[in-house]
Amino acid sequence: MSSEEINNLQNSFQRAVNLSGSSGAVSTSPTQSFMDTLPRRMSASNKAKALKPFSTGDMKILLLENVNATAVSIFEDQGYQVEFHKSSLPEEVLIEKIKDVHAIGIRSKTKLSANILKHARNLVSIGCFCIGTNQVDLKYATNAGIAVFNSPFSNSRSVAELIIGEIITLARQLGDRSIELHTGAWNKVSHRCWEVRGKTLGIIGYGHIGSQLSVLAEAMGMHVLYYDTVTIMALGTARQVPTLDELLNNSDFITCHVPATPETKNMLSAPQFAAMKEGAYILNASRGTVVDIPALIQAFKAGKIAGAALDVYPSEPAKNGAGVFNDDLNPWATELISLPNIILTPHIGGSTEEAQSAIGVEVATSLTKYINEGTSVGSVNFPEVSLRSLDYDQENTVRVLYIHHNVPGVLKTVNNVLSNHNIEKQFSDSKGDIAYLMADISNVDQSDIKSVYDELNQTDAKISIRLLY
Ligand SMILES: NC(=O)c1ccc[n+]([C@@H]2O[C@H](COP(=O)([O-])OP(=O)(O)OC[C@H]3O[C@@H](n4cnc5c(N)ncnc54)[C@H](O)[C@@H]3O)[C@@H](O)[C@H]2O)c1
Repeated sequence: MSSEEINNLQNSFQRAVNLSGSSGAVSTSPTQSFMDTLPRRMSASNKAKALKPFSTGDMKILLLENVNATAVSIFEDQGYQVEFHKSSLPEEVLIEKIKDVHAIGIRSKTKLSANILKHARNLVSIGCFCIGTNQVDLKYATNAGIAVFNSPFSNSRSVAELIIGEIITLARQLGDRSIELHTGAWNKVSHRCWEVRGKTLGIIGYGHIGSQLSVLAEAMGMHVLYYDTVTIMALGTARQVPTLDELLNNSDFITCHVPATPETKNMLSAPQFAAMKEGAYILNASRGTVVDIPALIQAFKAGKIAGAALDVYPSEPAKNGAGVFNDDLNPWATELISLPNIILTPHIGGSTEEAQSAIGVEVATSLTKYINEGTSVGSVNFPEVSLRSLDYDQENTVRVLYIHHNVPGVLKTVNNVLSNHNIEKQFSDSKGDIAYLMADISNVDQSDIKSVYDELNQTDAKISIRLLY
């Protein structure tokens, strides 16, 4: 909370006193009507106190790039002022608009560079309503005490369903039959077309997507093996195997669901294709670096691999359009395109209406919890810190949110400031150069709030402070 905001609050407090015609104390705690507007899932208990950093009318959120309607309604339900735009904004317009907002929601087109972020005077949080966050200068945001949230897992089901569709498509050569008939050719064949029932699916990476897929595949009568660097409890009758080779030796379909890391780069290359069963199928909807595509082309031409479905590539076009997937982008593009029973999709694994809606809910909820309660769980650039909610009757309790440089001695300094009050609970964690401390202090009179704020504001390690009550 800035000193200007404290003054505003004190003014509105005084106005409330004047309006009530009473000189008695009027609580600045949220009114019951504000509590009523909280989505059910955000008021975990009827006894939880909803904290307010600013008067709800003052909280300004700028939403760009047609962020999903689910997010808009969550913010509006909180009483925030929402400014919504269907597209991204030119840089000079964005610089003007970002000056006063407390949060901004973007998708992948808006670039939040240091040059733009340095104009943000009140910004506490950025919501990326997508998977990636590389459109944001994370280093600058972190050093400025701005928490960034995204939605890495809202589209897991969409990817799993795409893979299921592709397994059958490959087994029945559906892509080729469809392309042939579109050109007028009738080619009714059963040679090397299979049912998937009874076949073995090998899943590399048994995380959010891999495990969903496991359940769906078993429902179709497939056997499931999986390989993961972590020991993970199997769903259904799936079985974890200790080595990648064991999975490769025994699977009819092999699908990749691992992150892009140095260890997963070219995880499937010539030696791995050699270790597979004759006529195996490969699927990759994880990251373009995981499968060595030139080696895949060779294995396919040698008859070792019967088909493949690829959704991701080492280099992907920046925008939609005809002719953009070409040899300039990836030198093997023409050769790959010419091969039969190779399904190529433009990174659409997670692109469904349901995923967009879920992303809207997930990111808006993270932002709201951070703004209202200080919880940074799910942030990509902050340490994950959370405190349990305050009870509704904790009138004189203030929540301190103190973002600071990760240097020795800070806790001692901060606790010196807080020690005039009862520190009910406190949690601090660090990530790289920054650290985040949350503390609930009780027995704080209205008149003390500004002095707590001012004293914390003068500490050397401070990046930013908010006080909620
Ligand atoms: N195609 C799309 O549109 C799309 C959409 C969403 C996610 N993805 C990608 O799918 C991949 C998986 O996503 P997720 O949400 O399931 O991730 P996740 O983090 O939930 O699961 C990844 C799993 O891979 C395992 N793993 C990591 N390194 C490994 C290694 N070297 N060997 C074996 N296992 C390893 C991890 O232990 C984890 O269980 C990611 O690369 C993600 O970026 C693609």
